[in-house]
Amino acid sequence: MKKETQIGYEYFKNSSELNDIEKELFERAKEARENAYAPYSNFLVGCSVLLENGAIYSGNNQENAAFPSGLCAERTTLFWVAANFPKVKIKKIFIVGGHREFPEKNPPIPPCGACRQSLIEFETKQNENIDLYFSSMSEEVVKVQSIKDLLPFYFDGTFL
Ligand code: THU
Repeated sequence: MKKETQIGYEYFKNSSELNDIEKELFERAKEARENAYAPYSNFLVGCSVLLENGAIYSGNNQENAAFPSGLCAERTTLFWVAANFPKVKIKKIFIVGGHREFPEKNPPIPPCGACRQSLIEFETKQNENIDLYFSSMSEEVVKVQSIKDLLPFYFDGTFL
């Protein structure tokens, strides 16, 4: 029996189409991207999150000479937020990626598989979806209303 699944997403041709809070998150993610530590890949990623209390926090990718010891922008940011505000829900996450030398050539940069899995844990933990935006310096933005849209057949703690 063949079955299909569909995902819905929103596409913004330019960040000027975003609302005010989304624009703020985009700016904060771009600022954070500038501080990424990515001497090996030269691929800079910034990330911002909006909490339910209105606070915004940001982070970026942190690489290491021993490559697997580095960490993506999304998890750097999420883990810091969880460590400091364990009981506060996350409403939105905004990701901006792009190469150091030619960032405007990159299309919207989606989160890697490991970050999707980490994000699933946050949605499960807080029992609420997180709006996810991914973009690049091209100013195009893609929005999904849940990480689950990017990870069909996800694995979470309910299986254990
Ligand atoms: N990177 C992120 O920060 N987030 C992603 O979701 C994709 C990849 C980083 C990891 C590494 O520092 C660089 O981009 C190149 O893979």
